[in-house]
Amino acid sequence: MRDVSVDSLLRFSRYDLRELALIAGRTPFFAYSRETISGRIAQLRTIFPEAVHWYYSLKANPWGPIAQHLANHIDGLDVSSSSELKTAFSTGIAPEAITLTGPAKTDEEIVCAIASAMTISVESRHEIDRTIGLARQIGRPARVLLRVNPGFTLRGVGLRMGGVPRQFGIDQSDCPGALQAMASPWIHFRGLHIFWGSQCLNAETIIGAHEGCLTTTAELAPFFPSEPEVLNFGGGFGIPYADADTALDVSKVAKGMTAWLPRAERSWPKAKFVLELGRYFVGSAGIYVCRVIDKKSSRGETFLVTDGGMHHHLAASGNLGQVRRRNYPLIIGNRMDHARSEIVNITGCLCTPIDVLAHQVAVPPTEIGDYVVIFQSGAYARSASPNDFLGHPPPVEIMV
Ligand SMILES: Cc1ncc(COP(=O)(O)O)c(C=O)c1O
Repeated sequence: MRDVSVDSLLRFSRYDLRELALIAGRTPFFAYSRETISGRIAQLRTIFPEAVHWYYSLKANPWGPIAQHLANHIDGLDVSSSSELKTAFSTGIAPEAITLTGPAKTDEEIVCAIASAMTISVESRHEIDRTIGLARQIGRPARVLLRVNPGFTLRGVGLRMGGVPRQFGIDQSDCPGALQAMASPWIHFRGLHIFWGSQCLNAETIIGAHEGCLTTTAELAPFFPSEPEVLNFGGGFGIPYADADTALDVSKVAKGMTAWLPRAERSWPKAKFVLELGRYFVGSAGIYVCRVIDKKSSRGETFLVTDGGMHHHLAASGNLGQVRRRNYPLIIGNRMDHARSEIVNITGCLCTPIDVLAHQVAVPPTEIGDYVVIFQSGAYARSASPNDFLGHPPPVEIMV
């Protein structure tokens, strides 16, 4: 690292940026804080009713060490591919607390789930029939949740997964028929999976979603083939990405749940109430660090060109489904005590103008060799990016 005062270095977990860079060996790298992840879960366990079962959705960050670390702290895992299935299985978490979710499941995935006694969240009538057929072939009933696309709609959710036409789950109006089709000796009915949305920062909206899930469950209960063991009411807990975002008030959501849970427990006494989160657990636990390779100006604008880019962090470049491009929070990690007096564009190293990590952002006077650190990078970053595009090396990942 260039000659910088130690005081001006970012500290992350118990290391400073100089030490982190030495541990990673090269840039770009992702660093994830074990302590932050455990702290997030501990915080939720303190304020929510004890009866809540917390599941981690591997799609947010499927890196093995993260899954393994989380498995020591949470109650279950949500997986959506054969690779995630194997990662989850290898953590040693109880198989019935691993849920295979997602459209277009392959026979291989369904068979793996049945053979290992995991739970399958079925997403269509055809998938119910296929699951019954595969369970019969293996000679072992499949543990199954019915994924419902609920009748209620919500406002203020970053990404709506239900209540609108979607490839996920079965429309609530078609669920009575689907539940009747599940009355088979090859299906062990476990309950409902209602994943209504993602990236929600409004506590009232989440409380409204939980009430919607309770109503949905009550409406479908007369058609259940047996008493539900699991009622998975989704997650949706968002994290702030832009300055204008306000952090979700989780204590308000907890208060809402404390109010409705006893009633729900009386109605469905055998059911475990599951909340399934991805980004809330890991998003703010990760940073992405890349290095300034060039500094140049073009038609009046300054460009910091880095060795990172959208092939590692598509979301930060605004190309992972953002409605309006917003910069991720970032700093120059070796100039912490300098005023942000320069306006720059920060780009990656790819040969495309969409490889922009920050547009017109204020930073301290920055030089070649400096370290750009992007926060909120623990979820939907490396694994949600086109790593092979242009053939640059993959980023290093470390957990500290
Ligand atoms: C079924 C399911 N569970 C969990 C999640 C995780 O969502 P988030 O990372 O926003 O908590 C998703 C995200 O798309 C999902 O589809």
